[in-house]
Amino acid sequence: MIIAIDGPAASGKGTLGKRLAHHYGYRHLDTGVIYRAVAYALMESGHDLRDEAAAVQAALELDPEKFGNPALKTQAAGEGASIVSAIPRVREVLLNFQRQFAADPPGAVLDGRDIGTVICPDADVKIFVVADPRVRARRRTMEARARGEQADEAAVLADIIQRDERDKNRPIAPLKPAADAYLLDNSQLDIEGGVRAAIDIIEAVRAGRSRG
Ligand code: C5P
Repeated sequence: MIIAIDGPAASGKGTLGKRLAHHYGYRHLDTGVIYRAVAYALMESGHDLRDEAAAVQAALELDPEKFGNPALKTQAAGEGASIVSAIPRVREVLLNFQRQFAADPPGAVLDGRDIGTVICPDADVKIFVVADPRVRARRRTMEARARGEQADEAAVLADIIQRDERDKNRPIAPLKPAADAYLLDNSQLDIEGGVRAAIDIIEAVRAGRSRG
């Protein structure tokens, strides 16, 4: 089974993806990390984030062993990711890695922006997570502070809004719900509540399928 989770920045899809993978015994891929890793490679080597040739090269040299690097979690890496991810050839290079991850048994949960629309259009269940931008900014700020980073909530909110706009309006693989995605608004839900709501959706889809 493939579960696709999409949604805007800091909507809680990463935590949800991890928890669902654990619940079902599947593997989990936070696809945002891939774009963050490409951006970080460019930042480290002093390249411009819009340098297409360098970005494509970084995508080709992607090393999943480095996905755990805490530097990928920063706001700068997220902002950089939203710039490199708009380069069509970068997305093309990263497509197979993601599809292969999804196809390997026993099943997978992928979260990102275009999982249900482009990467896994045939996913068994698609969930599009939304949350009020102010709630997302508050959560991101708390997370950053918990990691010992300084974070200004108003700046985080501005970053989230800017990133959402860029992700929604890019011509390639824009952020949008697949036509057959279930909407999950977790503005008022805590982590447990969000996980329960997602499991309810997944189980309802499965039950419908086995009846069908
Ligand atoms: O989800 P996260 O904040 O880690 O994503 C960072 C950026 O990577 C997003 O703003 C988006 O531009 C890009 N991204 C994407 N497609 C995905 C996942 C992330 O374009 N599947």
